[in-house]
Amino acid sequence: MNEVIKPPNSSWRPRVVAFFCNWCTYTAADLAGVSRLKYAPNIRVIRLMCSGRVDPQFILDALARGADGVLIGGCHPGDCHYVEGNYKMLRRFQMLKRMLKDLGIEEERVRLEWISAAEGEKVKRVVNEMVGQVQKLGPLGMPGKFEEWDKEMEHFAAQVEEKDAAAACSCATANKPELTTA
Ligand code: FES
Repeated sequence: MNEVIKPPNSSWRPRVVAFFCNWCTYTAADLAGVSRLKYAPNIRVIRLMCSGRVDPQFILDALARGADGVLIGGCHPGDCHYVEGNYKMLRRFQMLKRMLKDLGIEEERVRLEWISAAEGEKVKRVVNEMVGQVQKLGPLGMPGKFEEWDKEMEHFAAQVEEKDAAAACSCATANKPELTTA
């Protein structure tokens, strides 16, 4: 999975899913909108009550369903409304990055940022950086890869079945008693 899939054409734009904490980054994104700070439109924001609510499975699912990158935004350390949700997220994030590396997915496709409610400007910068970074990496194309892997697995299963059938057949022939003529 290490080979980079080239963008289908120069007009290709990445799809980035963002999980934003309601109390900070989501409010900052709102502020950016109200302040007319323009950021890349290819981001789909999902609001959660805390970054600690982001299960690594959400990130893997987003990538598996066609996202090219995932951004997570939470409160600054010490500011989490649920005391240590963001620390939990940080620990999961480190683990997830190792997992992505093992899967051959570039770790730059996921990013964790602490952005307070007052940092509309930072939302704009981080979103634009993230979209630019993923644009450089090219499409991840996981749904297409799953289809290819499914086909490979079907082909492999058919080969195994064929071999099993051949082995069973030669076994039956070997065990057949020889007919002797008197
Ligand atoms: S409440 Fe924002 S990260 Fe926990």
